[in-house]
Amino acid sequence: MKIPINIPILGNEEINAVKAILREASLTSAANIGGKNVQEFEKLASSYIKSKFAIAVNSGTAALQAALYALDVQIGDEVLLPSFTFVATANAVFSVGAKPVFVDILKNNYTMDPLDLKKKITKKSKAVIPVHLYGNVAYIDQISEVAKKHGLRIIEDAAQSLGSTFKGKHTGTFSDIGCYSLYPAKVMTSGEGGLIVTNNKKLTEKLRMIRNHGMVHGYDTKIFGLNLRLPEISAAIAKIQIKKLPKFLYKRRKNAKILTDLISTLDITIPKERKNEKVNWYLYTIATKNRNKVMKKLNMKGIGAAAYYTIPVHKTPFYKKKIKLLNTDWAASHVLSLPVHPGVSTQNLALIAKTLREELG
Ligand SMILES: Cc1ncc(COP(=O)(O)O)c(C=O)c1O
Repeated sequence: MKIPINIPILGNEEINAVKAILREASLTSAANIGGKNVQEFEKLASSYIKSKFAIAVNSGTAALQAALYALDVQIGDEVLLPSFTFVATANAVFSVGAKPVFVDILKNNYTMDPLDLKKKITKKSKAVIPVHLYGNVAYIDQISEVAKKHGLRIIEDAAQSLGSTFKGKHTGTFSDIGCYSLYPAKVMTSGEGGLIVTNNKKLTEKLRMIRNHGMVHGYDTKIFGLNLRLPEISAAIAKIQIKKLPKFLYKRRKNAKILTDLISTLDITIPKERKNEKVNWYLYTIATKNRNKVMKKLNMKGIGAAAYYTIPVHKTPFYKKKIKLLNTDWAASHVLSLPVHPGVSTQNLALIAKTLREELG
């Protein structure tokens, strides 16, 4: 694909930082607070996201698992989450022994429907995981209200929404714990990696232990934990990437605006920010009933248009649930994401728009 849907944007700074770590041979640290680069990355991340604490881990999946452990979600508990997400959200819930309960989405921004959430709550419900899908901010005020009324904890899956804000606050900071992914296709990367944010000191101490086999000083396992540590090479890359992030997001916003201006008259659903919302434009996602035809045409021209997600989690062979999630099904057959990452040029956007006009105009 000449223009992939997303690509990591790496430069000489990242290359030199990796070389320096290799020369020092300081590849990781089993200290409770992490290695030098991990600590420095956490400082930069918490200052950017405006959370009191940040805990780096080795994937977005690990971030979600650690969050679930930290909130004592366990066997017999139910956790509410959208089916229209990457499967990692559900897998993290399953991995701690809890039962994923799938909630429908809203058509306007593909995130959790607070009314359907309310309907799915039972006595066993322990937590809810709204997903800020595509970088769109979930209806967090309404979800928080429902969660508060029913005594549910909230973990935000902000894997796709680093940099997105609502009323000036970053996704990931609306609730008990926010989880991000630093996978290469995301708005910034560390190779594989994840980040957890919280304003709660006790949870921070717990999360640092969970990241490191429950240990504080040496072999003193106090709670259950695993090895979820972020390697120093990854942290060194992340340190540089987070400094570049505002520029990356500025370019994404600019590209999204150009694309919207070019395709706004077509008979398709265009992504829009709602009042007080600022999205990171991780995925610029349109909806059209001619999705497969358009995607094929764009792909033939070397444009990495992609459909996230054609199979909702509740319909995968592993989770196979006979439930009706109408908006989820609609989205699975209509959504199409178009590239707007910083490597996409104005000419690329013009080609995307021309192709869409030819197919749908
Ligand atoms: C919504 C969502 N949740 C969780 C994850 C898991 O992150 P990772 O791939 O870093 O484990 C991803 C990443 O792809 C994601 O998109």
